[in-house]
Formats: sequence, structure tokens, C-alpha cells
Amino acid sequence: MVKIAPSILSADFAKLGEEIKDVERGGADYIHVDVMDGHFVPNITIGPLIVSAIRPITTLPLDVHLMIENPDQYIPAFAKAGADIITVHAEACPHLHRTLQLIKEHGVKPGVVLNPSTPVEMIKHVIEDVEMVLLMTVNPGFGGQAFIPSVLPKITEVRKLADQFNPGLEIEVDGGVNEQTAILCKEAGANVLVAGSFIYDSGDRAKAIKAVRGE
Ligand code: DX5
Ligand code: ZN
Repeated sequence: MVKIAPSILSADFAKLGEEIKDVERGGADYIHVDVMDGHFVPNITIGPLIVSAIRPITTLPLDVHLMIENPDQYIPAFAKAGADIITVHAEACPHLHRTLQLIKEHGVKPGVVLNPSTPVEMIKHVIEDVEMVLLMTVNPGFGGQAFIPSVLPKITEVRKLADQFNPGLEIEVDGGVNEQTAILCKEAGANVLVAGSFIYDSGDRAKAIKAVRGE
């Protein structure tokens, strides 16, 4: 069964704790936390302060997606704040292997993210060093954008690499995931689906989570 990771980017930040508990009760598997710095992506969101504030709110793993330049500088703070998984963009890491080791040294599961236009080739040599590969199906920066279907073959490509070199690898998809696009992602080989607006804009979050999971 696929795992569902609601992105709190589309939650009501005035009642963030309650919004997280709502998706936890609704059957979420991870809480996806979108960190943006206004440099790597054209938007600014949240930092380690919010991650440490939500840590005691939920027992679900915090899946922290860093859309920031120079992630090495902030990995210790996000680890200390309680991140369980930290994913970094290959495009933002000139020394990707070093950055992944840094995450591991801080006791956090390392993952790597690719933008829609970045080829899978870019992460081939670190496939055994990560616990998660996150494939963006929108250009990162905002919730509520349309799914980019040309990323689907990349999911299958990563699944093939995983079968060969890292069978436990989690393959996560992020951006424009809804009831319909979720099916395509699963068929292509993804096992973790991030969904922000589809879940949080829905009145019944449990129902939306089930719909994305395909139940
Ligand atoms: C985009 C973020 C996503 C986003 C997904 O930059 O990384 O996690 O919140 O939102 P939806 O599901 O609305 O596309
Ligand atoms: Zn994300």
C-alpha cells in the first residue's frame, strides 16, 4: 500500500497543530514539511522553529523537504528540531554525497530530490546512500500547481535503479497529486505520495487521503 504524506503548505497556519492532528486521524503516514528560502525557489515558508513546534503534536515521521540553497548550513538545526527524513535538492548540492552523509551523521534519514527537468542520471551514483528519492511533478515553490506528466518515466527509471541497487528505497512524488494523478504515479512505481491542496482544501481530509491512496 502506498504511503500518503500531506503537505502542510496548504494547511491553515493559524491552527497548524489542529490541521496536523486532523490528517493524522485521517490516516496520513508522514507529515510533509516544505521549507523554502526565497532563493532556491521564489517563495519563503518555514524554518526549524516551526518544525520543533510541531514535533510534539504528532507521532508521524516528519518528512522535511528542503528547497533551499546551501542546505549543509541548516541540516543540524532541522535534525535538532525533530526531522525524521530530510530531502535535499540535487540541484542545490554541488557536493551531494557529502550533504547526504551530513544528514546521516545527524541521525536523520537522507533523501534526494529532483526538479522536473533534472535527469535521473544526476543521482545514479548516490542511489545506495539515500533512503528516499523525491521526484517533483511541479516546479517547486507553490502548492496548487498542475501535475507535469512528463516526469512519469523518471519514476519508472528510479524504480528500476531501486530494484537493482536499493530495494528498500522509498520513491516519493510531490506536486499536483490528486485522485487521478495518484494512479499514474503508483503505476509508474512511486510508493509515497505527497498531496497538499487536494487534502487540505477538502472538507473531509480522511476521505481525501483514502481517495489519493486509491481505497
Ligand atoms: C511544492 C511543494 C509541494 C506542494 C504540493 O513546491 O514541494 O509539497 O506543497 O502541493 P500540491 O499538492 O498542492 O501540488
Ligand atoms: Zn514538498
